[in-house]
Amino acid sequence: DDNLVVLGIETSCDDTAAAVVRSSGDILSQVVSSQADLLVRYGGVAPKMAEEAHSQVIDQVVQEALNQANVSETDLSAVAVTIGPGLSLCLRVGVQKARKTAGSFNLPIIGVHHMEAHALVARLVERELQFPFMALLISGGHNLLILAQGLGQYIQLGTSIDDAIGEAYDKTAKWLGLDMRRSGGPAIEELAQEGDAESIKFSIPMKQHKDCNFSYAGLKTQVRLAIESKNIQDRRSRADIAASFQRVAVLHLEERCQRAIQWALKIEPSIKHLVVSGGVASNQYVRARLDQVVKKNSLQLVCPPPSLCTDNGVMVAWTGIEHFRMGRFDPPPPAVESEDFV
Ligand code: KG4
Ligand code: ZN
Repeated sequence: DDNLVVLGIETSCDDTAAAVVRSSGDILSQVVSSQADLLVRYGGVAPKMAEEAHSQVIDQVVQEALNQANVSETDLSAVAVTIGPGLSLCLRVGVQKARKTAGSFNLPIIGVHHMEAHALVARLVERELQFPFMALLISGGHNLLILAQGLGQYIQLGTSIDDAIGEAYDKTAKWLGLDMRRSGGPAIEELAQEGDAESIKFSIPMKQHKDCNFSYAGLKTQVRLAIESKNIQDRRSRADIAASFQRVAVLHLEERCQRAIQWALKIEPSIKHLVVSGGVASNQYVRARLDQVVKKNSLQLVCPPPSLCTDNGVMVAWTGIEHFRMGRFDPPPPAVESEDFV
């Protein structure tokens, strides 16, 4: 084994996360500081505020990741950091911290694509997972269906033409007045268990489009209109809306995955796995429904545990390891650099 130890830093959205991972696949530490309280107060992510929140905790989060892993900077092989996509003000906090650490300790630095990290962390979880494989990435900002042929070789089969599914979960939760101290997704998932998923007939998005793209803006509007036109005082009627929304939101995923599998198998008949990752993939109903689709096609579902589906530093460190092994990294930055140089 190459025995690498990599620090991963993630600040693309509202979580400040860091982790230390070994190339053997051992997770030595994992630290996440979430801005959930800010989100509740302001009803969404405000970039400037999120940047300040990241800045306040980044040193502490990284230090804790090193402490928990029982390593010091000198034990590290490299530093990996998310460089996009995401809020640029927020990304910068992570990148500056990574450059400072790498500069001070003469470590190579690896810039990581956030969505690639969501997909590749599945290879840490499931060591049997070889290229080529398919991945459905479902989060707050993105819906992606890809065919991964090799490291850095991805064919996009489908993407969201408007809102991502996580955004639809979050807005539905907000309009239903649910407790948003975590995020909307888990609140809807929980409430939906008490509801009748057939009670409201929302229409399935993009039925007439025979492709693998996604759209959640229309479903969002349908849900908002339903909430406005109904009495949602009692928990039961809120649960009915949550369950009906979730059923159709996930049906859309199922249909797209079914078609994408057919497409992908024509390009790469040796595919055996569909990876489902990103925050929404921590949802048990989503996992169960997609497992059915995958099984029907004689494939296997690979879905990381919830803590590795939502934004985290482990996926960044692991993706860094995969790139580092292939010689894809930047040399250590200068030890001292002014802030505006970054
Ligand atoms: O990947 P992620 O942590 O951040 C982004 O890259 O966007 O995904 C966050 C999204 C949020 O929209 C959140 O509501 C959703 O994932 N989410 C869930 C669940 N847990 C998180 N959606 C549905 N069910 C869940 N259990
Ligand atoms: Zn994410």
